[in-house]
Amino acid sequence: MGPIADLFPTDLPSGTVHLKSILVAGVQVRLAKATQKVAKTAEFSHARTKSGGVYSAEMTNCGAYGWWSDAEGYRYTEIDPRSGAPWPQMPKSFTEALKVALSGTTVADFKPDACLINHYVAGTKMGLHQDKDEADFARPIVTVSLGAAADFLIGGFDRSDKPTSVLVESGDVFIMGGESRMRFHGIRKIYSGSSPLPCLEGRLSLTFRKAT
Ligand code: FE2
Repeated sequence: MGPIADLFPTDLPSGTVHLKSILVAGVQVRLAKATQKVAKTAEFSHARTKSGGVYSAEMTNCGAYGWWSDAEGYRYTEIDPRSGAPWPQMPKSFTEALKVALSGTTVADFKPDACLINHYVAGTKMGLHQDKDEADFARPIVTVSLGAAADFLIGGFDRSDKPTSVLVESGDVFIMGGESRMRFHGIRKIYSGSSPLPCLEGRLSLTFRKAT
C-alpha cells in the first residue's frame, strides 16, 4: 500500500500498514500531555454496551464527533452524553503528528473528525470487533500507540477467524484501510511497566476516524 509499506515489508494483510516508531519521543510526550488535557474536560470512564457489559478500557474522545456506547447503543455524537457538553477540540498536536506520520502513505489526505482515546492498564483487553459506525468505510481507521506496549490482534472478516498478533509500541502508528478496513481487531495484552514515557503509565491509543 504505497512507498512506506514497501520500506517495511511485513506479513500483515493488504490495506494495513504498521509504521514502527514513526513518532519521536518528544512528540509522544506532547501527545500524552495533550490527552491528559483533553481528559480534564472529558474524563476517562468505562463505557457500557447496550446490554450492560462494561468495556475494560477507559475511554474519552476529542474532535467534532466522539464515539460512545451506553444503554442507547453505539454511536457518534457531537456532545459528550455524560456531560451534555461538546467533545473537546482535537489538539493541534494530534493533527500535526498524524499529518507527519501519514505523509508518504496512500492515506496522506486523511482528515479525521473524531478521535476515540482508549486508556489501557495491566489486564485490560479489547475484544475482537469491527469499527462500523462510521459513514464511509472507504476512510481508514488510524491508531497511534503511546506508553506501554500491547499485543494488537488483527483478524479476518468473521469473528471466529484466527487473528494475527502484532506488537504495537509507543510511537507506532497502525493504519487499517482499504480491503482490511472491516477486519475484526482487538487488544489481547498490555505489557505493564513497558511504557518509555515517564508521564504515562499504561497505554493510550488515539484512534482517528472520519465519523461523517
Ligand atoms: Fe476498533
